[in-house]
Amino acid sequence: MDKMDCKPGKWRKSMSQRRTSNSRREGSCSIAGSRRITMHSGDQPTSQALHDLLHQTAADESLLPSRHGQSDSHDVSVQEFIAPLSWKTFADHQYLCPNRSKDEILARCGQREPIMFDSALENLRMTVERKIGEGVYGEVFLCKKANGERSVLKLIPIEGSLTINGEKQKTFEEILSEVIISSQLSNLRQRNVQFCTDAFVELRSVSCIVGRYPPRLVELWDEYNSKHGSENDSPIDFPNEQLYIVFETAFGGSDLDGFRFRNALQAFSVFAQVVLALAVAEKRYDFEHRDLHTGNVLIESTGEKERTYYLLGEEIVIQTHGLKATIIDYTLSRIVYNGLCLFNDLSTDEELFTAEGDYQFEIYRNMKTALKNQWDVFAPKTNVYWLHYLLAKLTSARNYRDKSSKGHRTTMQTIRELSDVLLQFNSVQEIARHYFAPESNADNKEN
Ligand SMILES: Nc1ncnc2c1ncn2[C@@H]1O[C@H](COP(=O)(O)OP(=O)(O)O)[C@@H](O)[C@H]1O
Ligand SMILES: [Mg+2]
Repeated sequence: MDKMDCKPGKWRKSMSQRRTSNSRREGSCSIAGSRRITMHSGDQPTSQALHDLLHQTAADESLLPSRHGQSDSHDVSVQEFIAPLSWKTFADHQYLCPNRSKDEILARCGQREPIMFDSALENLRMTVERKIGEGVYGEVFLCKKANGERSVLKLIPIEGSLTINGEKQKTFEEILSEVIISSQLSNLRQRNVQFCTDAFVELRSVSCIVGRYPPRLVELWDEYNSKHGSENDSPIDFPNEQLYIVFETAFGGSDLDGFRFRNALQAFSVFAQVVLALAVAEKRYDFEHRDLHTGNVLIESTGEKERTYYLLGEEIVIQTHGLKATIIDYTLSRIVYNGLCLFNDLSTDEELFTAEGDYQFEIYRNMKTALKNQWDVFAPKTNVYWLHYLLAKLTSARNYRDKSSKGHRTTMQTIRELSDVLLQFNSVQEIARHYFAPESNADNKEN
């Protein structure tokens, strides 16, 4: 079993400052209509077990609409976010106006000015119950609303001069892409027969707040620190004028790091759910997550037996085996939004690519190579690398409560076999097509 030196995601503590670029470079935005899909057929090893397992979970093919005559272009009916972005246009290229990032964010928050920390919590009408997680930039708290519904608040200090957790605080400009990506991916849950998935965490609100940390939150921070040990600095030192961006999301359960599955069937279902979610976003937004370690996949129990995805008009149904997976954390992610490429430029980062000790760190190096260190470029192979990492975690670092069943053993074998061939694919789109809609392969082979 692999032993992690630290919580996945916490490696970033040691990284140099990162710059988020919200710019469009020539050729950076690939529009799906101009791409062709390379299908893998006979050369892809698939054992009977893998075939059977996937077809237990694949769509009822008879329900799938015919692919003939379908447009391959991005669907435009998904509701866009509330405020239009402000551009500057130079030589036909569009750039976000950095000095307008604050306005853009406030518009997305439905605010004119940052609001006081206490009033913001009052407005949200919920009780903050406990701290449940942390990252280099954020503190994450679980809250309960009067109707019993749970929400999660991720608080990210911005614009201040105080160094936090060894990092410079992000600016409005640097946080804007996370705000936009979070809302676009959350919106994929809106019913739409072209592209639809609810596997990206539901974004309920974004707020821009100002002030010292309220004593209650400091108390909860201390409580977490004494129980689990925090790698972050105490938020007690934030001054009155400290600004924060607060993401309110649905509670997605506990992260995959250290999760104990009942058996491999559950683990494989979680993997399949992540595959389909990535395939939908990859096709819809030229999305690459770029940081899909086990801290960024959440799992919770569900009574729902199935989960449904729409990918280019195909309905794909997955058996949940009692678990629902949710993808979070778009700090390093890339999408194309209204023709604008949003990404995090890691080209000058050094430490990120030198870390050792877990397969996770190799993935950053693989990404860098796949992208030729041009982080605006669309290279969906990066998503495939993260899936390969997740499979490795499911085979080597997962705990299973019941390893005795035949189902468990055959599924473990399937996971291993899939892991052996996964890197032959260049996008999650191809993986989804190959394993989840095999009947349509013949229609879509690259010619
Ligand atoms: N919606 C959520 N539901 C449950 N836990 C969450 C949620 N969002 C974040 N967390 C927990 O908080 C941790 C840090 O959040 P994340 O968004 O990944 O921040 P960072 O960008 O700092 O890594 C996650 O690894 C997870 O354990
Ligand atoms: Mg994270």
